[in-house]
Amino acid sequence: MKIILGPASRELGEKIAASTGFEAVSVASRIFPDGESYIRLESSVKNEHVAIVQTTCKPQDTNLMQLAFMINAAKRNGAKKVTAIIPYFAYARQDKIFLEGENVSIETIAAMLKAAGTDQVITVNIHAEDALNRFPFPAKTLSAIPLLAEHFVKKDHEKAFALAPDKGALYIAEQAKTVLAGESGNLEKQRDRHTGQTTQSGKHLNVKDKTVIIFDDIISTGGTIVGAAKILREQGAKHVYTACVHGLLIGDAETRILDAGVEEIVSTDSVPSKFSTVSLAPLLSEALKAL
Ligand code: R5P
Repeated sequence: MKIILGPASRELGEKIAASTGFEAVSVASRIFPDGESYIRLESSVKNEHVAIVQTTCKPQDTNLMQLAFMINAAKRNGAKKVTAIIPYFAYARQDKIFLEGENVSIETIAAMLKAAGTDQVITVNIHAEDALNRFPFPAKTLSAIPLLAEHFVKKDHEKAFALAPDKGALYIAEQAKTVLAGESGNLEKQRDRHTGQTTQSGKHLNVKDKTVIIFDDIISTGGTIVGAAKILREQGAKHVYTACVHGLLIGDAETRILDAGVEEIVSTDSVPSKFSTVSLAPLLSEALKAL
């Protein structure tokens, strides 16, 4: 197997190549003055099973086009199998029709990747796993939650309360609880499908004087975490941290979260940033070695 270092995840790709011992293939990339993408594989992939590591966070459309181009370049240059490793899968939250007239974005993206030559996909904490069953190729999602929880164990936060900010993230809090060996619980979140506005509420949780870590798959504007932190403060939590797999942290999300009393924001390198203190390399390396 060879690891193709997608421009959006070059560092993560290099870590995976180093830990698996698979040869890395560099990619030359350029954005033309009109915004179009160009890519070229810089070494041979003939007769190889290749794993292309490319996240699809902002700029999503550029990163997705680069991914499709790398997949197609690999196939045209003789790769016998292409596994797309997509640490953050863009457009995954539009995984069903919520309002008449919409499309199912994630299915459109999967069709595009299929047309480019994808044989299989590995992603991490996709928003809703069900969507993968409708992909036109085998696809699986791994969970980075144990790695995030281990980060807090190493920082002496064993027994911290793992909180899911909504019901959808309950499985996440439960996975974290297994590592932290404390308690877990969840809040409720309702979204107005027309305005996108959310409201949060919480039953009584056993968090008084405790350290609480809010776990979620994605932090985008930070609104969900800010709302959860407010409820935790009202319920007497002593320390509040937050961890997510995909730290998009748009605009002033960091400031808003810290102002809400959250002491630390931790994410993985599915979206490379100053918050990505936990690398997905061990998780993805194991998955590739097992193929
Ligand atoms: C949606 O339900 C996701 O799991 C996240 O909770 C959401 O994407 C976070 O968005 P924001 O940071 O904008 O509240």
